[in-house]
Amino acid sequence: MSHSVASAYSIEDLRLAAKGRLPRAVFDFFDGGAEDEITLRENAEVFKRCRLLPRVLSDVSTIDTAADIIGEAAKLPLAIAPLGAVDFGRAGGDIAIARAAAAAGIPYTLSTAATTSIERIADAAPGRLWFQAYILRNQPFLDALIERARIAEYEALVVTVDLPVGGKRERDLKNDFSIPFGFTRKNVLDFARHPRWLSGILRHGMPVMENVKGLDEAATSTAAIASSVGRNYDAAFNWDGLQRMRDRWPRKMLVKGILHPGDAARIADMGCDAVIVSNHGGRQLDGTVATLDALPAVVKAVEGRLQVLLDGGVRRGGDILKAIALGANGVMLGRAPLYGAAAAGEAGAARALTILKDEFIRSMQLCGVRSISEIDVKLIFGNA
Ligand SMILES: Cc1cc2nc3c(=O)[nH]c(=O)nc-3n(C[C@H](O)[C@H](O)[C@H](O)COP(=O)(O)O)c2cc1C
Repeated sequence: MSHSVASAYSIEDLRLAAKGRLPRAVFDFFDGGAEDEITLRENAEVFKRCRLLPRVLSDVSTIDTAADIIGEAAKLPLAIAPLGAVDFGRAGGDIAIARAAAAAGIPYTLSTAATTSIERIADAAPGRLWFQAYILRNQPFLDALIERARIAEYEALVVTVDLPVGGKRERDLKNDFSIPFGFTRKNVLDFARHPRWLSGILRHGMPVMENVKGLDEAATSTAAIASSVGRNYDAAFNWDGLQRMRDRWPRKMLVKGILHPGDAARIADMGCDAVIVSNHGGRQLDGTVATLDALPAVVKAVEGRLQVLLDGGVRRGGDILKAIALGANGVMLGRAPLYGAAAAGEAGAARALTILKDEFIRSMQLCGVRSISEIDVKLIFGNA
């Protein structure tokens, strides 16, 4: 295990290790959010402000973290959120995260914009796999991608609905790391200053968004393929389109990017299996409600008809406990395993999951609860 991983005790330690290894443009692409980054910060701040009211003397010598995530067993109430462009941080990054998830006994979601194909992930990672669909204007292309996920036996489809257009991410604009990507004096200097990262890129070649290769037949370079996705988001997509996807996909379906209780209730009516309360990690609309603040109303609105997962700002095991106490069935992790993988590949992604698992178990013990079903809203100060 590399020094940076062995001496990482928190997700923030892994974040700093990733920051040290990556060119600024790549780190900022992973770390940043839209516009003033209010939502990016709020997601995490709300977890910090939420106060626990623990119980004592309840024999916490044995802890069971087993969870039901959309009707199947998981070792922890966690899943990996979809992440595009991961291999720009390190070659083999998607596979590193997927394998770490399988070893930890939690589902992994592969993004449409991933740098590893649907089939390669299915071959490399033995665990539960979900495929995340971005809504593309080229519907036959998207249908074919979803069909590939079905053939490769992905357990569930995650439809991301908070991206009718891309968010305005100003760090990427300032770093010349936006679409269409082009080499400029600034980003070439940045890359050259990070020789360990650069030698990996030179050895393995520029990563490619493998799932969307062919979306634009003229696009052959890394940059052109990435740009073709950016130009292809379908801003006209609506509830009828989502219903069509629900009707065609034969397995479990989750809808990601929900904040409003009315939208959550409508998705419950459609016979989906979960809503994911998410603001895309603060990368889309800036100034939205933080996900932990949005959660209770969504939980109330769906009346137990489907599961509610949450992502955004989870950096401590205690955050997982807080989300479950406020009604989530589980939490999805975005940047936490990404920082780990960028810092140190599979060992780093695994380290991120181990850190969160250890903190989660310790938080359960210190709150006096022994299983997921014992975590309830009375553990949150102000709700007892
Ligand atoms: C670098 C990066 C790439 C992402 N790519 C996708 C994607 O392709 N599809 C998607 O639905 N969400 C994507 N997201 C959002 C995550 O799935 C998730 O909602 C978010 O990261 C959760 O917040 P957290 O990073 O604070 O855990 C991405 C996030 C990051 C940081």
